[in-house]
This record gives sequence, structure tokens and C-alpha cells, in this order.
Amino acid sequence: MKIYLAPLQGLTDWLFREAYSKHIGLFDKTFTPFVRVQNEEFYRPNQCNDLLPGHNCFQRPVPQFLGNDAVSFFRFEELCLRYGYTEVNINMGCPYPMVTGRRMGAGLLPYPDEIARLLNEIFSSARTKISIKCRLGMETAAEFEALIPLFNAFPLEEIIIHPRVGKQQYKGDVDFEAFLRYASALKAPVCYNGDVNSYEDAARILQKAPEIQGLMLGRGVLANPFLLSEVRNELLTAEEKATKLKNFHAELIAYCQQKYSGDHHFLKHLEELWGYHATAFENSHKLLKQIKKCKSLAQYKAIVFQAIETSMRAV
Ligand SMILES: Cc1cc2nc3c(=O)[nH]c(=O)nc-3n(C[C@H](O)[C@H](O)[C@H](O)COP(=O)(O)O)c2cc1C
Repeated sequence: MKIYLAPLQGLTDWLFREAYSKHIGLFDKTFTPFVRVQNEEFYRPNQCNDLLPGHNCFQRPVPQFLGNDAVSFFRFEELCLRYGYTEVNINMGCPYPMVTGRRMGAGLLPYPDEIARLLNEIFSSARTKISIKCRLGMETAAEFEALIPLFNAFPLEEIIIHPRVGKQQYKGDVDFEAFLRYASALKAPVCYNGDVNSYEDAARILQKAPEIQGLMLGRGVLANPFLLSEVRNELLTAEEKATKLKNFHAELIAYCQQKYSGDHHFLKHLEELWGYHATAFENSHKLLKQIKKCKSLAQYKAIVFQAIETSMRAV
């Protein structure tokens, strides 16, 4: 069973991925958060910094494309090839209205004809392997029905399914029954993604869907950085966890210092991560409050390393 790290915009950027793969563990694959390309233009050129080979030394991610036209795809693929990547993942899951309103991300799913045109054009001259990360639909899971023959018509590297629909965003239950029904009708290898937060969650999914080839972990890894080793049944001592986590945070700080000038931007960036990560620690509410109030890097370091000392030793 392959275990992947999910792309999480603003969270699993190169700073996080590098620090994680160097000190905590290597996933079978990681993915960049989406790079939005439309009308041949990169929405934010600095998103491409995430792809730079020098920013991805410890594990090469799969770059993710968000767009709905082949010309933009090939512009992105060109950049990926220049940097030495061999696979591109297409985002058909992003639920944000700014994206779905432009028929990108999950907003493409109700339009099988547009997806067919896009994939036809892409597969007619793609030079990389192509995988898709999608939801079951935008409004209802039944939308997936029309996508099955379409996905089966192309040699997709794999399909990663997050079985919610776009309008749910990240709330409400995943539709596991629909996932099982549709996954078994797909020819490409299928990877499951969504709400895997413990060894038990992973075991339950694998028991019900033994044919799936991969599990993708997202927010669960931010909340518990050792979820990867737990799912692989590699158990670590409290001492080992504390050491790995300390090294991870020290490295993350060092990378953030490379990227951000000034403590303010730096701390704002890390605050988002801590919104998920604090739950790995004792007294998580208090810790999160302390982190949000931090005014300097020195203060941040003192709080984080103290928290690791007290919480991880207590595991
Ligand atoms: C803050 C945030 C940012 C995300 N960014 C992306 C993204 O860039 N590309 C993508 O395919 N999915 C993105 N996702 C979706 C996740 O990859 C994943 O599908 C979702 O969080 C469900 O998995 P989980 O429950 O394991 O977190 C994002 C999710 C969140 C919460």
C-alpha cells in the first residue's frame, strides 16, 4: 500500500515537505499544492517557486496543475519538464467558489464534455505521466457516473478520490459507499483520500476497499506528524518522536528564514500550520493562543521547543 502526502495550499509547501522528508519520514509520493494557470498565464508566478529543484532535494513532489485548458496545461508541463518532473497531477477537486465558478477544480466535474475535450487534447501530446485528483462531483456524487467511461478512456497514471462533493467544501461526511461503487469501475489505480486520521481509520478503509492502491493523508499529518509511521505500523518511542519533531521544527524555521524577511510574515505563515498542528500537543488550546500571540522568532522558538519537551516526553 502506497502512502501519499496530500497537497494543502499554504501548508504543505516546499518548506514543510523538505523539513518533513528530511527529519520525519518519506512518503511514497508527495504533491505540490495547485499551481493555477489560466489563459496560459500563471496566476501567481511565485507559486512556481514551490517546484524549483533546489527546493525539493529530499523528495521530489508531483506538481499539481489547476486549470481547464490544454494550452495552459502545456505551459505548465513545459516548466515541469524543465525542472525534471515526470508526472503532472490535474486538480479536479478544489471547492473554492473563485475556482469552481471558472469551471476549474471541482467546478469542472459537472461538465464531462469539457473534461473529455481537455483530456483528449492533453493526451494527444503529453510528455509526462498524468494523474487526476478529484471529488465525486460538484453538487452530487451521481455526477461521477458520467466520468467513469471518460476516465477509463485514457491511460491515467492514477486517480486520487476525495469522496466529498465540491459544495461540501471540507465539511460533512465523506460518501464512502459511493467511493466503493465508483472506484471498482475505474481502470486506473485508485487512491483514497479524506479524513484518515489514525491507524484505525486506515485499517477500516483498507478492509472495506482492499483493491485500492494508495492512501493519501492530509490534515491528519499536520495534526499528528507521526501518522505516516503509525499507518505503516512502524512504532517510534517517545524519545525518537521528540528528537524528530525538534529537528523538523528547527529545519522548518531555517527554511522560513530563507523565504521570509521579518518575523511578522514568518510567524503568520506558521500560525496556519499550528491551527492543525497544536492538537499533537498537551494543552493544545493554550499552546495555539501562545503561538498566535508571538511577536518574535525568539519567543516562537522558546514556546515550540518547550512544548515538544513537555508533550512528547509524556506520550
Ligand atoms: C487548507 C487546505 C488547502 C488545500 N489545498 C489543496 C490543493 O492545493 N490541491 C488539492 O488537490 N487539494 C487541496 N486540498 C484538499 C486536500 O488535499 C485533501 O483532499 C483534503 O484535505 C481531504 O483530505 P484530509 O481529510 O486527509 O485532509 C486542500 C485542503 C485544505 C484543508
